[in-house]
Amino acid sequence: MSELPLLPARIRPAPGKGVTSVAKVTDAWYVACLSKELGRVGVLARTVLGLPLVLFRTQAGKVGAFLDRCPHRNVPLSGGSVEGESLRCQYHGWRFDTGGDCVEVPCLVGEPGGPARCAESFPVREQDGWIWVYPSAGSTPATEPYALPTRGDARYTTVLDVVEADGSLHAVAENALDVPHTAFLHRGLFRGVSEPNQIQVVVRDWGDRVEAEYIGEPRPAGLAGRILAPGSDAIVQHFDRFFLPCLAQVEYKLGDTSHFVVTSAMTPLSDHKTRLFAAISFRVPLPSLLVKLVLTPIARRIFAQDAVILARQAENLRRFGGEQFASTDVDALGQQIRRLLKSAERGQIERYDEPREKRFEMRV
Ligand code: FES
Ligand SMILES: [Fe+2]
Repeated sequence: MSELPLLPARIRPAPGKGVTSVAKVTDAWYVACLSKELGRVGVLARTVLGLPLVLFRTQAGKVGAFLDRCPHRNVPLSGGSVEGESLRCQYHGWRFDTGGDCVEVPCLVGEPGGPARCAESFPVREQDGWIWVYPSAGSTPATEPYALPTRGDARYTTVLDVVEADGSLHAVAENALDVPHTAFLHRGLFRGVSEPNQIQVVVRDWGDRVEAEYIGEPRPAGLAGRILAPGSDAIVQHFDRFFLPCLAQVEYKLGDTSHFVVTSAMTPLSDHKTRLFAAISFRVPLPSLLVKLVLTPIARRIFAQDAVILARQAENLRRFGGEQFASTDVDALGQQIRRLLKSAERGQIERYDEPREKRFEMRV
């Protein structure tokens, strides 16, 4: 039985507050898995927005995505196997093409097809090493998935990583784009080892995306900053961005030579669990293998610290029955992301041609 009713009213979240999520935004693309997880020919069970899905790749390399439930007797299709250009259920052997049409019913004399015998299929795309799914069955997507800005540019190396975090999409997106915690939680790895400087922040809001530009930021003083921009007087350009409903992006230019774009596609598995697919693209004046070898353990350590704090936050949100946040200016994008997600959940996204700007100063 829940202990929440015993909490004094003053520490209980307001009725209906719950946890910020986007479990209802189904008209958008989400990354379901890495291309390499599906292999050359393969079958994989994945969850996107709480929907159990089966993904499969055919002999010709085409990818299909179905609800993970056979229309015949409802066993998971993820237990099946690929045959040519179709997926065969392991129980009675019904076979479905990538569009979900039933193309074979063993033992049946006559036509196998018909709407009631279709697997429920979802739009799917493969690009940049990710398999994207549009979790709205049978729909025609109005857009294509986000394309990585460094795609096709041979000067960049891109590393893909996956992290699973206990936390809502909002909590994980805010964490990915939150500057103040880096000097504490990741002290010494990224920031927090020198005296803070006062810098300008400009937040731009287009209604369906927001950006924070940090002006006058010194080179990050931690180990990562020293490797990426050896000169301590390098000019730093730093942008953090959030695109509804599930993309976070951090861009750093350090001097003329180093450029980093970390794009995180976040896929809610449930209200309290989010899988983050990170694409780390970089161009640096050092051999990219060396940079990978040095930076990968630092990046993993940072991700691990974030995963621990997100799990603690999620556990506490469960204990207290929801969110009760206090914010300041320096929670620059956290508040904006929350507002955008709430408007997307209600289906009331307002888009502005000219961004609404807010400026303030902060110490980093
Ligand atoms: S349950 Fe899939 S073919 Fe019967
Ligand atoms: Fe972090």
